[in-house]
Amino acid sequence: MRVESLNAVDFRNLSALDFRPGEGVNVICGANGLGKTNLIEAIWLFTGCRSFRSARDKEMIRIGAQQAELKLSFFAGARSRQAELLLDEKRHFTLNGVSLPGGRLMMGEFACVAFTPLHLAIVKDGPEERRKFLDIAISQLRPLYAKTVLEYNRVLAQRNAALRAAKENPAMRSLVELWDEPLAAKGAQMIEARMKYLERLNKKAAEIYEEISAGREQLSLGYRVYAREKTDADVNQIKEELLRSLAARCDADLEHGATGIGPHREEFSVRLSGVSARVYGSQGQQRSAALALKLAEAALFAEVTGEEPVVLLDDVFSELDPLRQQYVVKHFENRQVFITCCDEASVTRLANHDVTVFPIEDLR
Ligand SMILES: Nc1ncnc2c1ncn2[C@@H]1O[C@H](COP(=O)(O)OP(=O)(O)OP(=O)(O)O)[C@@H](O)[C@H]1O
Ligand SMILES: [Mg+2]
Repeated sequence: MRVESLNAVDFRNLSALDFRPGEGVNVICGANGLGKTNLIEAIWLFTGCRSFRSARDKEMIRIGAQQAELKLSFFAGARSRQAELLLDEKRHFTLNGVSLPGGRLMMGEFACVAFTPLHLAIVKDGPEERRKFLDIAISQLRPLYAKTVLEYNRVLAQRNAALRAAKENPAMRSLVELWDEPLAAKGAQMIEARMKYLERLNKKAAEIYEEISAGREQLSLGYRVYAREKTDADVNQIKEELLRSLAARCDADLEHGATGIGPHREEFSVRLSGVSARVYGSQGQQRSAALALKLAEAALFAEVTGEEPVVLLDDVFSELDPLRQQYVVKHFENRQVFITCCDEASVTRLANHDVTVFPIEDLR
């Protein structure tokens, strides 16, 4: 998969961008605040996912403008395609001239793996960041998963509303139980997909980390399904267990006015030599672990779909030591990569690859 061209009108500070990247490594360089991350963000939005900056759609429209317009021509599945994204109060996608009812339908059409300083949160921050990472990675592989997550969240919101109502009026308790079945059904699908994905990611990321750290520590991932570490359960078993746990926890949930178990509360841990990377890892170890997870995500995508994802590396290259830089470079082969940096010299090690350098001033 690769980007053939990107055009932007009034997207953040990019009032008129015309960008035709090369097929290999594209280095976008320039001083702070010129729009390098904005360009990366613009490409990312075509995955159909929300901005990695968790920005509201409206914030991405150039201040003073009414709307932003992005056009992406990309090559995937052995053919060129044209996608457009119009941002006003909402996001409007079209693919080859056909209007799509929502961003989710872009998933599976265009895919990226992004690694920015914000993605260090996957290792450093709380469980929510890791769940988000998993959900985005799986959604790009299996667009139907994104639908399941959406439906799960809808049912969860209904059950939580019923819990709050039943707290006021105990006669409404039976309404809460009405939601248990659909919640367990969607939740079990999510848990099964996450466990399967994590099993593969675990293997890949461990191999990659081993090389990055020259074998000094081992990376491993664990998925805690309501305090149980098991990867072999099938979706029906998981659903039965979820149903039992929901029933058993109903009083506690009523007390808290919120559902206390399910995929929205689960944690997968990143461990280095058996201990939590979040709690005990050094800065460099945490960075390597996040990088290993991202490179593993890209490798798995290629393995499953037979198509290389577009790789977006924002501002991370200068922070890596020469050994890690070299390692990342090795992974670039056969992929289109976008790297942003302030100082072009920091990517000179890429000299023997297919590198094109774009000063951001020349693009806007
Ligand atoms: N909606 C918007 N309208 C106009 N300008 C915006 C908007 N949103 C952000 N900007 C501007 O975009 C610029 C930031 O761009 P970006 O984050 O891409 O910079 P960068 O080149 O990545 O810088 P750095 O090297 O510091 O990471 C800022 O000057 C900011 O004011
Ligand atoms: Mg930036």
